Amino acid sequence: MTEKAWGGRFQGEAIEWVDEFNASIHFDNTLIEMDVAGSISHAAMLAKQGIITDDERREITDGLTAVLEDYKNGITEFSVAREDIHMNVEHALIEKIGDAGGKLHTARSRNDQVATDMHLYVKGRVNEIIESIERMQKTVLGLAKDNIHVIMPGYTHLQRAQPVLFSHHIMVYFWMLKRDKERFSDSLKRIDVSPLGAGAISGTTFDIDREETRQLLGFSELYQNSMDAVSDRDYIIETLSNISLVMVHLSRLSEEIIFWMSEEAGFIQLSDQFTTGSSMMPQKKNPDMAELIRGKSARTAGSLMSMLMLLKGLPLTYNKDMQEDKEGLFDAVTTVTGSLKIMNGMLGSMTINEETLEKTVEEDFSNATELADYLVQKGVPFRNAHEVVGKAVLKCINQQKYLRDMSLEEFRAEHDAIEPDIYEVLAPKVVVDRRNSTGGTGTKAVEEQIRIAEDTLK
Ligand code: ARG
Repeated sequence: MTEKAWGGRFQGEAIEWVDEFNASIHFDNTLIEMDVAGSISHAAMLAKQGIITDDERREITDGLTAVLEDYKNGITEFSVAREDIHMNVEHALIEKIGDAGGKLHTARSRNDQVATDMHLYVKGRVNEIIESIERMQKTVLGLAKDNIHVIMPGYTHLQRAQPVLFSHHIMVYFWMLKRDKERFSDSLKRIDVSPLGAGAISGTTFDIDREETRQLLGFSELYQNSMDAVSDRDYIIETLSNISLVMVHLSRLSEEIIFWMSEEAGFIQLSDQFTTGSSMMPQKKNPDMAELIRGKSARTAGSLMSMLMLLKGLPLTYNKDMQEDKEGLFDAVTTVTGSLKIMNGMLGSMTINEETLEKTVEEDFSNATELADYLVQKGVPFRNAHEVVGKAVLKCINQQKYLRDMSLEEFRAEHDAIEPDIYEVLAPKVVVDRRNSTGGTGTKAVEEQIRIAEDTLK
């Protein structure tokens, strides 16, 4: 036998650097556990159908378990000439148990084998990502509950818009994460499908039982078309898309954290563990972790684009291009898992500078809408009120003061409907607390929001 499992019809000597280019073993060794699990189930099914004997099945199962053990103990040497994890494992098995090992690939192709491994891999990782997302949701919820009294500026265009509760702001991320979690959960029904038994493309003449391997591997469904089974990579695109979107959410939060921690804002302080110093400037404390998450969101989006481009021109069914589905996916999984963990730790250990935030909302015009609404309640049409308040703001800016620094005479000069209760109306705490429309930033509304959010985790 030649070194290559498919060597029979070949005469020319293999060229090392061509083998190197062709191989995927450097990265698809990640799939070894899935590959062994798939093979053990396949062998069990072959034995049940009388295609191999029970003794052969036992030898194969024990042999594969030993191959996996060797790998974990670091004593396996996989070879580039054997291309990928599938052929390396099969070779190691044959080395261990001889002829019975050579029967494992009966009624199977690497095309349904690799698809099975990938489905098992994606299913496992997606479930882990869902758990990580939920952990972060709980951290966000804790922050919202512990800081329900803290007011901060709310922005549009990064210009102060209206004051809001910090809890209201941070809870936005809870809802983003909820949608992320739902997307991953929903995708599972398309991931949790068994391609095993599709063969290379068209099924097999052997009397196999695909239902049996489906059950043994814990898949919910079977692919109903063998060609679809070996050429579908939609679930990988979907997973990369879901990962990219969580990463975009984490990146937006990172951006906010970076801004909040700037000396210009000074809203929060990150714990030392999640920051770094400068090699030259001794005073520095940099939010590197947040910046890295923001940066890494580019990589995951890149992997999604690569996968879309990879698939778009591929004819049915398997094409070697598909080997390129792995590195981007594995990298994206590592990236999102790490980013969720880091973000969770960073959020859980940050401190909120309440005093700075309190002072900040006192020193801006984010209560201007309030003054306009006040006039509207006195019967002034909103458009006129808007104009009046705009002029008052301009005067204040020219005199370097805020609305609440205006005297009652000054207010009344702008509009005679204004009365002494205006000072109370313009206080940030009052501004926030009056917004109790459903989903609003008033304390009551936010408490209700938090209650509903907690219910979603039950
Ligand atoms: N290493 C290959 C991949 O990841 C496995 C499938 C190879 N199949 C084939 N017919 N060449 O796609």
